[in-house]
Amino acid sequence: MKIYLKTYGCQMNERDSEALAGMLTARGHVIASCEEEADVMIFNTCSVRDQAERKAVGKVEFMKKYKQRNPALLIGIIGCMAERRGAELLADLPHVDFVLGTGKLHTLPDLVEKLASGRTRVAETGPNPDVLTGMGAHFRPEGAGGVLGQIAITRGCNRFCSYCIVPYVRGREISRAPEDILEEARTLTADGVREILLLGQNVAAYGLKGSTAAPAPEDSPFADLLAELAKISDLLRIRFTSPYPTYFNDRLIRTMAENPKICRNVHLPLQSGSDRILKLMNRQYTSDIYRSIVAKLRAVMPEITFSTDVIVGFPGETEEDFLMTRDLMNEVGFDQSFIFKYSPRPGARSAAEPDSVPQIVKEERDQILLADLAERTSLTMQELIGTRQEVLVEGVSRRMEDRWTGRTGGNRTVHFPPPGGCRPGELLTLRILKAGKVSLYGEAEQA
Ligand code: 5AD
Ligand code: SF4
Repeated sequence: MKIYLKTYGCQMNERDSEALAGMLTARGHVIASCEEEADVMIFNTCSVRDQAERKAVGKVEFMKKYKQRNPALLIGIIGCMAERRGAELLADLPHVDFVLGTGKLHTLPDLVEKLASGRTRVAETGPNPDVLTGMGAHFRPEGAGGVLGQIAITRGCNRFCSYCIVPYVRGREISRAPEDILEEARTLTADGVREILLLGQNVAAYGLKGSTAAPAPEDSPFADLLAELAKISDLLRIRFTSPYPTYFNDRLIRTMAENPKICRNVHLPLQSGSDRILKLMNRQYTSDIYRSIVAKLRAVMPEITFSTDVIVGFPGETEEDFLMTRDLMNEVGFDQSFIFKYSPRPGARSAAEPDSVPQIVKEERDQILLADLAERTSLTMQELIGTRQEVLVEGVSRRMEDRWTGRTGGNRTVHFPPPGGCRPGELLTLRILKAGKVSLYGEAEQA
């Protein structure tokens, strides 16, 4: 069958879709490049904000016309919104054939084949521990060249930040066995992957058996995993996202410092710079604890850069709270930040509170932080001009045929004319000549 797979939301969802594509193609199905040619349409959805859900529902509604033209077409909604709304989606969207939640994604190939031969409508949600081992497949179509790979090392989240729906739709946090992850990393590396991004809602909690207490200074199974991965000789770079700040204990910081393969670029979700709001969010750190984690990482890796997530307009956020967020963001000097307007999620604890900050104020705060970010980004990009940067070569640039693309350890894209013999997957030192809005331009150093 030809299967069209559309993904909304975070990198975990992207990774889940990649695993599903790998499982489906291993059974002889084909991934369709457009909706028109599909026998099966699958929408992997996100629930983190209301807008994300509405976007997916809008798209699925629009697909009705394809079903009218081809009644044999199967349409399915999977992932976080499927988990949250379950059978209700079948009632709301009569042209949808199946709904499959996050805990049962590994059963998708069986389900699709079953429904293709004998039609019924099904909604399956709820946890299933087999999803952990069942989602290790990869989809690496020939010619994609891929030097970048992703491995999910944990699923779910136990933190229950008060605004967040993830613990409800992705279930309790579970970690994969280190042998499975190392095996997956070796297989990917043998297939040409040179950089691996480790994924989890809270990656640094890996192996801590779901405990939410700040770990003891030397207790970090995640650091042990990083150190083992760093021993794979053909693997040149390791990244991870996202770590909850309080898991950066001595052991993890030392392991990063000792292993230059671990990229000096950390996504460290801040959410708010106000201690009062952090508490209401059930984030278990204060702004000073956050500052001290940044300082500890910088002390041993001065070149490290940070990115972050921030929410504006959380219930009760005053102008003063907001300014504390703004000040802390400027103080840390994030290289990149993702700013979200608070969206109440039915089921999450903060949704019981009135959504008290008016939309217009959320917009204003969002715009202020975006302007700060643009100013800082342009400055840091200018500062990179004239510097030497090591990039991992990814291949021909998507925008310019005569240029190739690579990324710095700090996650900046650089375009450059490929020197003779240059190959995807190698590390190359470039001199930065020019900075655009989002990417850099450079040339190879003369040998
Ligand atoms: N409203 C707005 N942003 C949210 N996030 C999570 N839940 C919500 C919500 N209800 C943001 C957080 C998280 C990122 C992935 O999405 O900043 O880190
Ligand atoms: Fe949501 Fe908090 Fe878990 Fe992140 S750590 S997924 S924000 S509950």
